[in-house]
Amino acid sequence: MAIRSIRKRCCLAQDRDLICHVKTGLVLLVTLSLLFLVSCIYVLSFNPVRHPRTWFKPVNQTHSYNMVTEGLSAKKYVWNFFIAPPIIQTTTTALKNHISVNHHVAHPSNYHFLIDEPNKCSQLDPFLVFMVPVAPHQLEARDAIRSTWGNESSVQGKAVLTLFLVGLSGGAEAQQQLEEESRQHRDLLQSDFVDSYFNLTIKTMVIMDWLATRCPQATYAMKVDSDTFINLENLMSLLLSPNTPRENYITGYLMWDQNVIRNNKSKYYVSVELYPEPKYPTYVLGAGYVFSNDLPQKIVEASKDMKPFNIEDAYVGTCLKRLGIKPSRSPDPSKFRMYMKDSKTHDLSKVITTIARSPKQIIEFWQSVKSLK
Ligand SMILES: *[C@@H]1O[C@H](CO)[C@@H](O)[C@H](O)[C@H]1NC(C)=O
Ligand SMILES: *[C@@H]1O[C@H](CO)[C@@H](O)[C@H](O)[C@H]1NC(C)=O
Ligand SMILES: *[C@@H]1O[C@H](CO)[C@@H](O)[C@H](O)[C@H]1NC(C)=O
Ligand SMILES: *[C@@H]1O[C@H](CO)[C@@H](O)[C@H](O)[C@H]1NC(C)=O
Repeated sequence: MAIRSIRKRCCLAQDRDLICHVKTGLVLLVTLSLLFLVSCIYVLSFNPVRHPRTWFKPVNQTHSYNMVTEGLSAKKYVWNFFIAPPIIQTTTTALKNHISVNHHVAHPSNYHFLIDEPNKCSQLDPFLVFMVPVAPHQLEARDAIRSTWGNESSVQGKAVLTLFLVGLSGGAEAQQQLEEESRQHRDLLQSDFVDSYFNLTIKTMVIMDWLATRCPQATYAMKVDSDTFINLENLMSLLLSPNTPRENYITGYLMWDQNVIRNNKSKYYVSVELYPEPKYPTYVLGAGYVFSNDLPQKIVEASKDMKPFNIEDAYVGTCLKRLGIKPSRSPDPSKFRMYMKDSKTHDLSKVITTIARSPKQIIEFWQSVKSLK
């Protein structure tokens, strides 16, 4: 109404048309600016008094999920898993420079290395790096690998390197032993997350972060479980094949069309809250997946937007799907095995990976393969 009357008054004379339009626009602009300013002052000065937390802090987004899993000893453990709320800085500078978020509980930016080998890759310039997630107390598993496939520094003329990643040891004495072990072998990495079966996704993402930040020069990397046997010659032959890509490449034992386990008694249980879809995208079995070393950085980046869940290999699969990268089928898929019924030397000489039942069996497999030469 007010604007229309201003317009009427000033727009009587045709020759003043242009000035009139400018004036009307100016009045409109000033009015709108005033309205905006008033509403800003209202919101900033009154709202915080009524809802002091909602303006500068996110609402409490801590969800807790109870889950029952079967431990190795068939005991049942009940775990309480917290999805950490995004940490949003409360300072005004953070608001000005856009909100700074620590992503989610599995994002590696939340964790720090307590034991590190930051110069290992620049010293050794490896072609292939094996990253072995392992529990702090599993010294026997580490030693079995150290005395077998992990003791090799070169395969078919290409430098290889094996490193172990553990989380928090949960005890001063255990921590001291780890530090001693690290001084002795110089192959240990430790990050400050709680080490548990449920937290394997965090461990994998920390591995990806280490590769991206400490070892970008490597051509390939492999995430290998501590109970996996590797036939290094066969693996290297695959990687050196002219048909094997050096970018956007990941292979191993492919898992197609896998249903999400909703039985809460299973070790692999994932709640609907953590992962709503009924199936996983195609992923590579966690026992051993090998990938071109451009992927770690891309996976860490993609994971920012991907809600974590406790199945590490399937989670990597969801990140790859987001990146539009399909896991490759091995030219001979039978080379990536699960367990072998009776591990004949003949079969071991053909595989790339197979799962061992104990650290001792890794040593047996290694000796069988060595005896062939
Ligand atoms: C947020 O939720 C958690 C779990 O429900 C609760 O323990 C905590 O006290 C809540 N914090 C606030 C600030 O409401
Ligand atoms: C690793 O191999 C070297 C020989 O190449 C050997 O001297 C050493 O004892 C081996 N280490 C372990 C832990 O078996
Ligand atoms: C997983 O790790 C996070 C970070 O250290 C910790 O807060 C959480 O309790 C751990 N969860 C389990 C089930 O171990
Ligand atoms: C597991 O699932 C069953 C039925 O689906 C339910 O009755 C039970 O409360 C669940 N247990 C836990 C610990 O969530």
